[in-house]
Amino acid sequence: MSQFSYQDGVLHAEGASLAAIAEQFGTPTYVYSKAQLLANYASYADACAGRDALVCYAMKANSNLAILDLLARQGAGFDIVSGGELLRVLAAGGDPRKVIFSGVGKSVDEMRLALSHDILCFNVESIPELHRLNEVAGAMGKTARVSLRVNPNVDAKTHPYIATGLKANKFGVAFDDALDTYRAAAKLPHLEVAGIDCHIGSQLLDDAPLLEALDRLIELIDKLGEEGIVLHHLDIGGGIGINYGEAGEAAPVPVGDYLGRLFAKIDAWRAARYEGKAIKVIFEPGRSIVGDTGVLLTKVEFIKHGEEKNFCVVDAAMNDMARPALYQAWMDMQPVVQGKAGALTYDVVGPICESGDWLARDRELAVEAGDLLVMHSAGAYGMTMASNYNTRGRAAEIIVDGEVCHMVRQRENPADLYALESLIK
Ligand code: LLP
Repeated sequence: MSQFSYQDGVLHAEGASLAAIAEQFGTPTYVYSKAQLLANYASYADACAGRDALVCYAMKANSNLAILDLLARQGAGFDIVSGGELLRVLAAGGDPRKVIFSGVGKSVDEMRLALSHDILCFNVESIPELHRLNEVAGAMGKTARVSLRVNPNVDAKTHPYIATGLKANKFGVAFDDALDTYRAAAKLPHLEVAGIDCHIGSQLLDDAPLLEALDRLIELIDKLGEEGIVLHHLDIGGGIGINYGEAGEAAPVPVGDYLGRLFAKIDAWRAARYEGKAIKVIFEPGRSIVGDTGVLLTKVEFIKHGEEKNFCVVDAAMNDMARPALYQAWMDMQPVVQGKAGALTYDVVGPICESGDWLARDRELAVEAGDLLVMHSAGAYGMTMASNYNTRGRAAEIIVDGEVCHMVRQRENPADLYALESLIK
């Protein structure tokens, strides 16, 4: 059940009216539901109950400290892609020993930082990265736990910009090179081969490609076992999608169903061929944890009737939510106050000086200047992809808990944006 619903004709987040939130905190503002966040996390945690499994939330989806703190308190680990994200985990009180570090371009400094905090694992993507990590760990007198991100060459059937498991993508070690790469890793003195991982893409509505990727990982684990390389964990990445509400859109597979099928496969394999040996299972979900947890609340500035189109000009823009401009993503928009008459077809656009600055196209809306709108399912890859283009301060962020609203990030002021700049003498 969604935590965003109309109560007496006004859209609420849990027990808080979005009209009241706009009044108190201004717009544009990201509004998140704590209950929705915890329910989404529980869908993973419940399916993992009693098993050796770890949910490493992919914090690139939403890295607000309050969100990280709420998830850390539920026992979550984190999938990070930069030193900056590790510092956020620490600032939020997360446990670095539950952190895995993904990404194709880890710098020496980032490796040092992660090693100094004894993170759970580096998800390594190339042989040069293995060598760099081995050197950095050796110089620190440490051993780095590594997993190889294997590219299973599975078609995730998602938007080309967010499919990552195909041969043509920059990610991972090619499936056919994986054994050799493991052999190379096992010889390096300051590395401990700990796991195997993959991530085939994002916004997958069907779990078949993920289960296919699992088969390929299992195939490799078996081969590694024959050579005496025994892994501690298997990390299947993130990827389960959410519903964005577009007509005709397929429903995403429920997380519990996917995890049930995945564990059944792992159990059958372990019983048959892995001699019942233990292996920890790691997940890296992002969107399915935070996507439907948040909305972007915005105010209509002007209604403009162009020659060919009607425009609803709002105060949020592509700098606040880049997904439509970047991926032509369809995201649902609704008025905060229900039931107005006089709907017209609008393009909902922001104030930025680019034709690509749109949030929604060809939508039936009954709106006038001063009205409030929300963009649904904006909790993932919204605020984390926001920019300061056009010297626009990034939006405020609010977490609603029942009827209580917590401001978890203040709105940026223009002065914040040029604070690090200086004139030449
Ligand atoms: N693990 C790795 C290594 C990843 O690259 C990603 C996402 C995830 C986990 C989390 O995937 P999720 O569960 O959220 O699907 N900005 C795009 C999505 C980019 C996803 C990048 N990688 C969007 O707004 O659709």
